[in-house]
Parts: sequence; C-alpha cells; structure tokens
Amino acid sequence: MMKVINEKMRIIKTVKEIKSELRNLSRKQIGFVPTMGSLHKGHISLIEKSLAENNITVVSIFVNPTQFDNAEDLEKYPNQLKSDIKILEDLKIDYLYLPTYKELYADNYKYKIMEDDLSKILCGAYREGHFTGVLTVVMKLLNIVKPTKAYFGEKDYQQYLLVKGMAEAFFLDVEIINCPIIRDEDGLALSSRNVRLTNEERQKAKLFPELLKSSLSNEEIIYKLNDNGFKVDYIETKFGRRFGAVYLGKVRLIDNVEK
Ligand code: PAJ
Repeated sequence: MMKVINEKMRIIKTVKEIKSELRNLSRKQIGFVPTMGSLHKGHISLIEKSLAENNITVVSIFVNPTQFDNAEDLEKYPNQLKSDIKILEDLKIDYLYLPTYKELYADNYKYKIMEDDLSKILCGAYREGHFTGVLTVVMKLLNIVKPTKAYFGEKDYQQYLLVKGMAEAFFLDVEIINCPIIRDEDGLALSSRNVRLTNEERQKAKLFPELLKSSLSNEEIIYKLNDNGFKVDYIETKFGRRFGAVYLGKVRLIDNVEK
C-alpha cells in the first residue's frame, strides 16, 4: 500500500489535533492499533499488519484506568514510553496518539458502552467492569481516529469478539481485524505483564500454554495447574477454543488455543 506521507512520526496529545490531522488527509486509508504501551512483538505484529494494509498507521498508547478492576494492577502496570517511542519511530508509523485521561473522560465516565452477554463470562466473570471499560475506551478512540481498519490480537480473544460485536451493533464504519497470538520461544504468550514475573515464575509459566494445548481435559488441567502453584480463575472451552486465566504470584496470565 502506497504511503501518503513519508514524514517523521508525529506525536499528538489532543483530540482536536489528531482529528484535524487525520481529516485533512486525502486518499487516506487509516489503520489503527490501540495499545496500553510497553510494546512487545505481539503489538509489533499488529502494527506491521496495519503498515502493510493501509497508507496511514496510527498507534495509541493509553493505560486506560476504567478497565482495571484491581488498583495494584493499574499501579504496577509497566510504563516504557521512551523505548516505545523509539520502537514506533523505527517501524515508521505515521502518528502516535497519546490521549490524556482528562480529555478522554471529560464526562467523568458517566457514559459507558456495556455489553450484556459475552462480557459476563470467562474474564468478565472475574473482572468486574473490565469489558465495559475496554468497550468504552475503544469506542471513544474509534470515534476520534475514525480508522478504516482497527487491529486486535487473539491473545485477548474475548476482547476482540466484543469489539467486533460493538462495531456491528453500532454500525461503526470500521473493519475489525484479528491477528494471531505471538509467543515467546517457550510458548508463553507475550504480554506487557510478563516482566512482573519473578525468574522462578517465568520458568514455570510455560506450563500454562503447554497444558492448554495438551489433550488433557479442562478439569485435569485445573488440577495440574493448582498442583504446580498456579491459582486458576478458569479453564473453559468455547467458540472452538480452550481459554484460560491463571495467577502466578500477583501476575494474571490469559491465553487461548484453537481446539
Ligand atoms: P494491550 O494489552 O496493550 O494490547 C494491545 C493489543 O495488542 C490488543 O489487541 C492485544 O490483543 C494485542 N496483543 C497483546 N499481546 C499480544 C500477543 N502476544 N500476540 C498478539 N497480540 C497481542 O488490549 C489492550 O491493550 C487494551 O485493552 C486496549 C484494546 C488498548 C483498550 O484499552
């Protein structure tokens, strides 16, 4: 796809500026990758797909407080803005959007996007209000950026399904694209939270994807995980996939594999 501009990446912090920049472009096909930063190869795979399929790529970094159901998780969420900027410059994206809480939530989160079915199972059953926070921020970002295509990872498969369902339900003019899970060499799905694992926990973590892929039953997997010091939220099969969420120490890991 031909790029419209070849300038250096622009960093933009206000709704007014990003809107006027993006609305002024002609022949635009905008790809958008929303993130919470601390970028790794999982995020980068989404960004590379956007770069290949669009002539403008916008990435946002915003640690969205409304989707955290646990104060400590929000407080400890890694922040690597400097190195993230370097990664995005090297990838040659066009715009990095860094929203502020004040502007994004000028309404004090009085207005929300709530889903009433899929958001209540799997992670939704364990993380009160999480998907309402996700859907609300994604709706705001999609309305600001107005992308042609927006990219979501299958690592958060439930999130992808909910965003896709929201785009359909509200007739948003955006194509929601799903991208495969990127894993470390030992099989652990990449996640910004992995840096919070101790060396010992990181060693043990590979058992989680190994068991999800195995031919053991969900019950047997839960038993084995408990036996190895994981705390299990759930292991469940849905939509032709086996989903899991576990804690290793204070770090929550999620994953899913095709079945
Ligand atoms: P974040 O966890 O930063 O993830 C941003 C995007 O990268 C999501 O679509 C996620 O599914 C994808 N991703 C993360 N790890 C991945 C991996 N190992 N392989 C493939 N894709 C991966 O998800 C969020 O942020 C937020 O909920 C957000 C959508 C930005 C709303 O705040």
